[in-house]
Amino acid sequence: MSNAYIIKYVDSLQVVDSRGDPTIEVVVGTVGGGIGRAIAPAGASRGKYEAVELRDGNLSRYKGRGVEKAVGNVINFIAPAIQGLDSRKQREIDKIMIQVDGTQNKEKLGANAIIATSLAVAKAAADTSKIPLFQYLGGIRARVLPIPMLNIINGGAHAGNELAVQEFMIVPIGFDTFSEALRAAIEIYKELKSVLKEKYGAHAINVGDEGGFAPPMKFVKEAIEVLLTSIKNCGYEYENQVKISLDAAASQFYIENKNIYRIDGRDLKHEEMLEYWKDLVSEFPILSIEDPFQEGDFEGYAKLRKEIGDKVIIVGDDLTVTNTEMLKKALHINSVMGVIVKPNQVGTLSETLDFIELAKLNGIATIISHRSGESEDNSIAHIAVAVNGPFIKTGAPARGERTAKYNELLRIEKYLASESVYAGKIYKFV
Ligand code: PGA
Ligand code: ZN
Repeated sequence: MSNAYIIKYVDSLQVVDSRGDPTIEVVVGTVGGGIGRAIAPAGASRGKYEAVELRDGNLSRYKGRGVEKAVGNVINFIAPAIQGLDSRKQREIDKIMIQVDGTQNKEKLGANAIIATSLAVAKAAADTSKIPLFQYLGGIRARVLPIPMLNIINGGAHAGNELAVQEFMIVPIGFDTFSEALRAAIEIYKELKSVLKEKYGAHAINVGDEGGFAPPMKFVKEAIEVLLTSIKNCGYEYENQVKISLDAAASQFYIENKNIYRIDGRDLKHEEMLEYWKDLVSEFPILSIEDPFQEGDFEGYAKLRKEIGDKVIIVGDDLTVTNTEMLKKALHINSVMGVIVKPNQVGTLSETLDFIELAKLNGIATIISHRSGESEDNSIAHIAVAVNGPFIKTGAPARGERTAKYNELLRIEKYLASESVYAGKIYKFV
């Protein structure tokens, strides 16, 4: 019977993502009729040390953004190397792709080609077993629904406004179930729309890349204040029910040759940036801050963690890029208490799972995350449950590519029924 899991075919094509950019889809079929289909996401504020997303660079097609080379790499190099293998041998298959690629950063085949194949292989194996992906990956342990961090005000590289901080998220922690937490978030999202419209006019409700509003604001505090108003107007408390998280994505407003951070219309030196965060967290109910300094500054993160880590989760994204070596470096000097996990930052599912394991073993909170360029692919919802949370970051509760993940989590919650647990109920917050 185990023949059923043998990979019969691997195919690939170019599809389109939520920003209108081409991206790669891979389809894997097994002898037993299992089918796995996965689409690579794409970041806009990418970390310097991420695995490389291969783009054609042919300016006469899609302004150079095509991924036909990556598609060709799957068909010509990856498919012949993995056809005939058992789709359950995820590690072996991922290693083969890494070897065929042969570079440090997966630039030859493209991390987009490799991650789409890697996820499609896992989905094909799960489909052959006739079990959902989260159960295939997590077995009987997988039953914790993650706490969503919903980015409902967009700034930085994801919006056309002047907000330096990229993401202003609401985090519904104090609810009994995932679906109730999501309900609260949706109510707040809709309330925010009314608050923004009333305060700034109709043009303030345009949305950014992750479905959050992109109002014409300049100051970080301004954005936090409208979030707090919306939470309060909905009747929720912000200490125990709905908190705020920020993704500063500080590399995006760091000016390297001057060694300053440009934020709120000011230029801040490193020490001033540190004071800025300290003041902000003493004033507002902030659960976490992601990438508070530029991505090379492991010491800066560690210093901030030392100063405010008793109150706030300091999170690495561009700093740690889903790479175990980077995480080891961060662990060594205590830079972070949480990490963003983006499968396409590293390029294979098994490396992603190893990164999660390393984080969990060291008491670091994992936040499974989408990218700003997304699709209907919902693999991250399954990965988040497979590893028992505690967090998922997948945008506003709006726009199909974001709701694809929330809706899948609702399906998983229903499927698990009384077996499921909401991470908000069991996670110990700082
Ligand atoms: P990206 O941003 O997907 O545009 O890189 C998301 C993030 O920084 O968390
Ligand atoms: Zn980030």
